[in-house]
Amino acid sequence: MFDHRVMVEKSGSRVTVVGTGAIGSAVVRLLLGGGYDVTVWNRTAGRAAALVAEGAVRAGSVQEAVSSSPLVLMTLTDHAAVRQCLSQVDLPGQTVVGMYTGTAGDARQAAAQVDELGGRYLDAGVQASPEALGTDAATILYSGSRSAFDQHRAVFDLVSTPRFVGETPEAAAIWDLTLFGLWYDAQLGLLRALDTVRAAGIDMAEFGDTASIQLNHVITAIPATVAELREASYPAGPATLAEHLTVVDHLIDLRSGGHLGTGGLPDVAARIKALIADGHDAEGLTATVGPPSTRQP
Ligand SMILES: NC(=O)c1ccc[n+]([C@@H]2O[C@H](COP(=O)([O-])OP(=O)(O)OC[C@H]3O[C@@H](n4cnc5c(N)ncnc54)[C@H](OP(=O)(O)O)[C@@H]3O)[C@@H](O)[C@H]2O)c1
Repeated sequence: MFDHRVMVEKSGSRVTVVGTGAIGSAVVRLLLGGGYDVTVWNRTAGRAAALVAEGAVRAGSVQEAVSSSPLVLMTLTDHAAVRQCLSQVDLPGQTVVGMYTGTAGDARQAAAQVDELGGRYLDAGVQASPEALGTDAATILYSGSRSAFDQHRAVFDLVSTPRFVGETPEAAAIWDLTLFGLWYDAQLGLLRALDTVRAAGIDMAEFGDTASIQLNHVITAIPATVAELREASYPAGPATLAEHLTVVDHLIDLRSGGHLGTGGLPDVAARIKALIADGHDAEGLTATVGPPSTRQP
């Protein structure tokens, strides 16, 4: 019978890493460098050979890998790979960390599967390249079992600056994907702008200086925007919804025909028109989001 107290005492000595791709290999090397004993398993066994030469111990099966440590990091491509590996194991009390980019639903399913097998689950969103892991620039977001996170904190500290973002299994996936989305919105907005000015024969470098000031307005307004949403108060600020609608319509014209399209602005225009029709024309842009929607991510 598995004794959880023994597992707690041993915690910090041996860690299992399932999946030795780019992220998994970087994690294994950091753990070996930090003095941990590391067991590895990879579907394509040959890809773990370099890590074994550096001191990791190869397990012959996923079950053998999982059984050898209190903490199992699953650094795999996606949730399908995690589900497949979990379907081959028993988990007498281990903590499993799903380290992959996935959806909220993936995280909930992985947590339920681990729970059913008798383990504790943490979902992890890697906000770093393999090269950045182990440096101050790397953050990994964790959610799920708080006690599991606290128990294995020393391991997580070695790999990145860890951030626990909530006790629901899906919190880290939502943070992770939403942060990616924020980056895409900003980066694609920049690309769309450069595409537009280039087509008009405007010097992109000269435009770029002013673009950075414009992007910075978004950054400096974050606390005020959060406060408006929290207080459900949508002051006009620099422009009313009616004034925004004029600019948005002009932008739809300017952007149409560009490589990246209109960037969702027709949906925004429709939303502003609906709010104006409802008598919100004097409010500001934050009103387009308004109170929380009831949909579950
Ligand atoms: N690389 C990055 O810069 C980065 C940054 C942030 C987040 N992430 C995320 O981190 C996760 C891992 O990324 P990575 O770059 O390490 O990927 P990777 O180098 O392609 O490694 C993927 C790993 O998953 C294994 N795998 C895939 N399908 C499997 C299955 N059905 N059963 C068992 N093992 C399976 C692969 O095994 P084989 O060797 O046998 O194929 C390999 O070990 C991804 O979700 C990625 O989106 C990556």
